[in-house]
Amino acid sequence: MGSQAAPKVRYVTGGIGFDEGRASDFPCDENSAAAILRRLKIASRPQAVEESVTLAISARAAALRAEGIDVLSLAAGEPDFAPAPPLEAAAHAFLESGVGRYTATSGTPELRASLAEAAQSGFAAQLTRDNILVTAGTKPAIHIALLALLEPGDEVVVLAPYWVSYPHIVRLAGGVPRIFPCSADNAFVPDFGELERELARPACRVLLVNSPNNPTGRVYSSDELRALHDLCREHDVTILSDEIYAAVTDADTDRAPSPSGFDEGLERTIVFDGLSKSHAVPGWRLGWMIGPPPLIEAAGKLQSQLLGNACAIAQAAALSAFTDESRAATRSMVGAIVERRAHFSKGLEWLPEFELLEPMGAFYAFPAVHDVLERLGIDDTALASRLLVEARVAIVPGTAFGAPGHLRFSLTQGIDVIDEALHRVRAWLDDHLP
Ligand SMILES: Cc1ncc(COP(=O)(O)O)c(C=O)c1O
Repeated sequence: MGSQAAPKVRYVTGGIGFDEGRASDFPCDENSAAAILRRLKIASRPQAVEESVTLAISARAAALRAEGIDVLSLAAGEPDFAPAPPLEAAAHAFLESGVGRYTATSGTPELRASLAEAAQSGFAAQLTRDNILVTAGTKPAIHIALLALLEPGDEVVVLAPYWVSYPHIVRLAGGVPRIFPCSADNAFVPDFGELERELARPACRVLLVNSPNNPTGRVYSSDELRALHDLCREHDVTILSDEIYAAVTDADTDRAPSPSGFDEGLERTIVFDGLSKSHAVPGWRLGWMIGPPPLIEAAGKLQSQLLGNACAIAQAAALSAFTDESRAATRSMVGAIVERRAHFSKGLEWLPEFELLEPMGAFYAFPAVHDVLERLGIDDTALASRLLVEARVAIVPGTAFGAPGHLRFSLTQGIDVIDEALHRVRAWLDDHLP
């Protein structure tokens, strides 16, 4: 036998423009990273989605910290509280039971029934477990609901300021986000006349509402939600109500109002909720949607192929999310958040250039900084970037939430950190404002 021919470099053909003939132009092992990259053709879908600005800023703050630079991060939407103790105990007990099996893909029957019972007081319609789909967090719940509702090109009205992920989730589901600005001058409530014109568009299918709101902390009143509900009924639009912060208003309120309180037949409202914020377990990935049974069934079919079931440990833990002890843990966390909100608002006396509409819920503050931007001749993204690098405070520019001219402070850390952050911003402004 003569010398063995070197193995031929083989590329998977079809769609990427390489073929056997041209492979020799790129000699490399067929399993090298370069070869794998050439074989892959990334579709347009991920290109239509941007990385979350919030996560990018948090990552940059972490990188600066790793270099030994003392950065205060008020960027991420993840508070520093420990998980609610009853949930931890229930998760441990589940692990000790030795069960590690799949659950029903729409959630365990016990948890669906328990969530229906816990949510009942906010709904005009009678709930059963058939109204509940348990998912791996609120984010996938919203995505799956949109996948179940939208045909390509259908429009979704997104009230701005909005949570950074909404426009991307809408696009991934084939929809067209229509951003509807709500001005700080109108306390972030939409102009109902203009909104009606938007909802009346023939392609409009969905209105996305988030109260309490990330980033503004605005909580819509029952009257405001009734007005939104009535407009949607008139124009046959479905309301997606993201209520992930509903338990985070003030220490005496169990839940913020919901449009579901007006939907007697539960015909056009879908509510989203989860444990991430109310029980301080965002990494456990447990959320749910509440809606009409046919929608829940359709969404459940999609989930069975996309995700399977939400984590069984988190589902078992969620069964103890609404006991008296758990509610007390949530209330005590909310008490601390209310204190932080009040402290931040008071601290803004040092920053009279910032105009804050006091947050009523969630754990964010979203002051307008138009005056500072004008005097410095920069935009909010440049200001946030300079505050990160030069003042060593990580906050998120309003542009990320569809509201340029603002900054979002996450009150996810204690009062000392909030104070120190405000001092640093003050000192930076003193050095830089003309
Ligand atoms: C308004 C809003 N909705 C949904 C989510 C995501 O929640 P989950 O952790 O349940 O996916 C967040 C997270 O920050 C949020 O701010």
